[in-house]
Amino acid sequence: MEYQIALLPGDGIGPEIVREAKKVLEKIGNVYGHAFSFREALVGGAAIDATGAPLPQETLRIVRESNAVLMGSVGGDAKNPATARWYQVDPKLRPEAGLLGLRKGLGLFANLRPAYLYPQLADACPLKKETVPGGFDMVIVRELTGGLYFGERGTQTVDGVRRAFDTCVYDEKEIRRVAVKAFDIAMKRGRKLLSVDKHNVLDTSRLWRQVVEEVGADYPQVALSHMYVDNCAMQLVHDPGAFDVVVTDNMFGDILSDEASMITGSIGMLPSASLNETKFGVYEPSHGSAPDIAGKGIANPIATILSAALLLRYSLDLEEEAKAVEAAVEKALEAGYRTADIAGVGTVAGQAAADGGGISTGQMGDVIAGCIG
Ligand code: IPM
Ligand code: MG
Repeated sequence: MEYQIALLPGDGIGPEIVREAKKVLEKIGNVYGHAFSFREALVGGAAIDATGAPLPQETLRIVRESNAVLMGSVGGDAKNPATARWYQVDPKLRPEAGLLGLRKGLGLFANLRPAYLYPQLADACPLKKETVPGGFDMVIVRELTGGLYFGERGTQTVDGVRRAFDTCVYDEKEIRRVAVKAFDIAMKRGRKLLSVDKHNVLDTSRLWRQVVEEVGADYPQVALSHMYVDNCAMQLVHDPGAFDVVVTDNMFGDILSDEASMITGSIGMLPSASLNETKFGVYEPSHGSAPDIAGKGIANPIATILSAALLLRYSLDLEEEAKAVEAAVEKALEAGYRTADIAGVGTVAGQAAADGGGISTGQMGDVIAGCIG
């Protein structure tokens, strides 16, 4: 088969990490006999510099002609002179608007953010050992195209007093489709689904809970439970092993997924997938563009490589190939290879992993590609 993949490297470390994920996909193509044809397009600050817009029409066109998108990251640092210009404009023209436009424009309503503790990197977990006796393995399904992010907003001055507002709106269709995705994922995992809301205060949360329960009636095998978002934030650091599949709205999912990634101790390891109703998806690391280490060749490419594995699984239906990528990452970790962010973390064959400053981004890509086939 031939597959069209759009590459959107974006800003900061984006180009470096996407290069390694492409390397791994090319290896998969060679070993399993697939032809991947890659087309690069601009997004974020890189697109602003070249065209004046964070999401050029040309990019949307290339993306729409592709089976899936592999993205790096967008954004810079408003205080860094090298990227400050991206932030001295209307918020609608900033790099992040490119990402939000891509999500909305392609209807990517379901954002899957796994968070698991690699046994090899368990020492990186900032929680006490007794809090995570058996590690944890969860996936947060975040609604991505509705809620507070896309409601009406504004800033006004009324009688000399500045005020601003953002509105949170959900209709039942938006809730139902993401709930269905989450139940489907729960069916393939531990058949447990936790829906997180603020039902005691918000109308959107009351509708959310009702609709999730209605969808749950179609999934009698899945044990559905509910939790308030504030309690969930506590439970994530109290007993992360209790979580399996979590579904929640856009804003809560943004916050909880950052918290979940932090307790893995290595944000450079976590992939994500943003899906719509078709097989199409945008795959990107859960971390940001890390402008502070951009261009140094020390970024960890694993989150992007694992995002490529999700791309193989969800958009191309290549489960065996997806597993091969995931196994290659485990093999590389098991053999003791570490980039700088995780250098010295964990054990290798019973001994502490070496802390030699870590291998480069490119070397990590080579090692992982070398573990395939
Ligand atoms: C994320 C990011 C984005 C979000 C920003 C960059 C707009 O934090 O993907 O979680 O808030 O969704
Ligand atoms: Mg976020």
